[in-house]
Amino acid sequence: MSSQPDTRHEIAGERTARDAYWMPFTANRQFKDNPRLLVGAEGMHYTTADGRSILDGQAGLWCVNAGHGREPIIEAVQRQIAEMDFAPSFNMGHPLPFEFANRLVALSPGDLDHVFFTNSGSESVDTALKIALAYHRVRGEGHRMRLIGREKGYHGVNFGGTSVGGLVNNRKYFGLLLGGVDHLSHTLDIGRNAFTCGLPEHGAELADELERLVALHGDTIAAVIVEPVAGSAGVILPPKGYLQRLREICDAHGILLIFDEVITGFGRLGAPFAAQYFDVLPDIMTTAKGLTNGSIPMGAVFVRRHVYDAFMQGAEANIELFHGYTYSGHPVAAAAGLATLDVYAEEGLLTRGAELADYWAEKLHALRDLPYVRDIRNLGLIGGIDLEPRPGEAGRRGYELHCACFEKGALVRYTGDIVAMSPPLIVTREQIDELVDILAQGLRELR
Ligand SMILES: Cc1ncc(COP(=O)(O)O)c(C=O)c1O
Repeated sequence: MSSQPDTRHEIAGERTARDAYWMPFTANRQFKDNPRLLVGAEGMHYTTADGRSILDGQAGLWCVNAGHGREPIIEAVQRQIAEMDFAPSFNMGHPLPFEFANRLVALSPGDLDHVFFTNSGSESVDTALKIALAYHRVRGEGHRMRLIGREKGYHGVNFGGTSVGGLVNNRKYFGLLLGGVDHLSHTLDIGRNAFTCGLPEHGAELADELERLVALHGDTIAAVIVEPVAGSAGVILPPKGYLQRLREICDAHGILLIFDEVITGFGRLGAPFAAQYFDVLPDIMTTAKGLTNGSIPMGAVFVRRHVYDAFMQGAEANIELFHGYTYSGHPVAAAAGLATLDVYAEEGLLTRGAELADYWAEKLHALRDLPYVRDIRNLGLIGGIDLEPRPGEAGRRGYELHCACFEKGALVRYTGDIVAMSPPLIVTREQIDELVDILAQGLRELR
């Protein structure tokens, strides 16, 4: 028997009991003094270490789209891990990722019909950027080496994604990052678009900055990467016509367009992917999160036929892309993913957001006159409440609203002074009411 204390279900307690775990994207010391621990989950709810039920307003972390504890996914994982825990995928294969890729491309728009598997959104992004650079190189356009991201963009935390990302704190500690990266302006314009229900009217012209960058960099740009809807920076929406315009400019200049659909993929906007929602087809699309309903880590990069075909040249005995992860196409993750797609299909979850979107929008916008609310943004089943920062204490109100909601029984995400919501796609109208009620109570208590 181990003599180590079991800290899993500890409620109160000193920071030291939790010291060894360096938590990601967390104020470690603050959290460890006042921990908010989750120990169970089912359907739309978490259970806390002290036995409270918490309405999940953020689908775990934008990933548990079908809700928690789904039996078919649990069973598929259990079956697969018992049957074959792991198989190598370099120069070897096993059936599941082939089957999973076929199922995925049947859902994807246009000819995004090849899939490269990764283990996370960050890996999907770095994979997509590498594929874009290599694509130009194998076509004899190796001079296209520049990558264009966008201010306030979030593309995960690996070096490529950090480089094209546009959140200052995620970048400034980590040296010079990748060379040859430039950024478009972000599209958040509260002055002109505050409290717009759905897509903002103003700002499509910001896409024209890509023309300016082409004028500056000539034919050295390989790819542009954007989130169709930015989540991590606090729900930033594309102005009407903006994504279409980006697509046109990319086409005019031989630049690949990458949509980072790590949060918008798998039904968040009421269509399987944002590319379908906006009717704009990227050349490469990154996904993760909802791919396995958050159950087992996995990511998938979709590429269009012309991208894949560019690599499938030369001697057939040659490896076409020198890239991949030990766990690419992991059997247990693929099993989880296949079962997830079954649940999505059986319950119509990939389009359910479209049915709820108007209700969601109406309820959220009813919060507009509450204290410190300076903007509310929504699309599909995404919502953001942007708060006036307290002078000298930027980010504090967002944190306090998050904590107040947690105390009152709902989990919502905060980024600085913006609180973001993205409930599982199984959410009911009553649960939307409950979430909005809790937010309203929390807002009224803000100082
Ligand atoms: C748009 C986007 N890209 C990439 C990522 C990174 O995904 P992961 O945390 O799985 O590496 C995220 C995570 O939130 C994301 O929102």
